[in-house]
Amino acid sequence: MNTKIVKINPENIDEEKMSQMGKIISDGGLVSFPTETVYGLGANAFSSAAVANIFKAKGRPSDNPLIVHISSADKIPDVAREVPEAAKKVFDAFSPGPITVILKKSPFIPDGVTAGLDTVAVRIPSHPIARELIKKSGVPIAAPSSNRSGKPSPTKAEHVIFDMDGRIDAIIDGGECSVGVESTIIDMSGEKPVILRPGGITYAQLKKILPNVEIDRHILKSIEKNEAPKCPGMKYKHYAPDAEVYVIEGEKGRTEEKIRQCIKENSDKRVGVISIGDADYDAQFVLRVDNSNVDYANKLFDYLREFDKQKIDIVFAEFSIEDDYALAVKNRLYKSAANRIIRV
Ligand code: TXA
Ligand code: MG
Repeated sequence: MNTKIVKINPENIDEEKMSQMGKIISDGGLVSFPTETVYGLGANAFSSAAVANIFKAKGRPSDNPLIVHISSADKIPDVAREVPEAAKKVFDAFSPGPITVILKKSPFIPDGVTAGLDTVAVRIPSHPIARELIKKSGVPIAAPSSNRSGKPSPTKAEHVIFDMDGRIDAIIDGGECSVGVESTIIDMSGEKPVILRPGGITYAQLKKILPNVEIDRHILKSIEKNEAPKCPGMKYKHYAPDAEVYVIEGEKGRTEEKIRQCIKENSDKRVGVISIGDADYDAQFVLRVDNSNVDYANKLFDYLREFDKQKIDIVFAEFSIEDDYALAVKNRLYKSAANRIIRV
């Protein structure tokens, strides 16, 4: 398949190009597009056939449901059959933006989207290109992250091109995603609201409007075998670069000392480091983040892909900033490291 790659400036959207992209979606094709979190791989959420092609293109297991993207809250009844008052509050407070709400599914959404569940994940993105694509296509857009299954989510068009060129109809290059990790997922379909995936909207922010909100206990743990996870995507290998990743977690200073020791012990390998700040390391490839988890989230997936490009064998990722945003970063870091965590 010949994949069209179309550059669109999010600050000055080319209406005609967007109409073409919207038509690909409404005709049943696949278009990758930027959102404020990561790039998505979109298809008409009302079409079982189109949605089935998402799973093929990604190599995604069919029991892992997709998020349905709409342009505004008045479209929720098209995709969900029930919206509790508390869920309305969440949409009012944080949408459009990096949050996904699990609701009871409408009968119009095919089982292929929700992997047979009675619930549907609903998100109203804030990225102008994502919003325009939904409007132009005239349908809700089912879209997972636009990576090959198991790989880090794409935050730049070049990541999508690497994973998806030749496998889908079109890729919209709309520049870098600003958040860098996927949306927060909150399940509002049960008795109590539960955060299933931490992301751009924090637990503290949600707690302010939903005092009884809980965090799913699987979030910082790997899924134990034979347990049915709430969020089907949680049980799969995730964000895994070719390199073996270790998280070096603890107080700044101690983490630096440990990383130096690890580099020495692995002198026969090509070593990569994610360093918070500008400490010197004697490694092949050192990538840096500012002293901020917002910056860490923004860069992490890009860095994991960069290590693969540089044929790095082993990565030591420093983690030392504990704040409200830490959960979102740690959740991805731990998964990319397959829970190889060294606490110092
Ligand atoms: O930021 C994001 O959320 C991005 C952009 C493209 O919107 N999308 C994204 O999609 O991260 P994906 O498919 O990579 O992750 C969606 C997660 C999966 O772990 C899936 O299992 C979970 O959402 N999910 C979807 N529907 C669900 C449902 N009805 N109940 C529980 N979990 C659900
Ligand atoms: Mg994903």
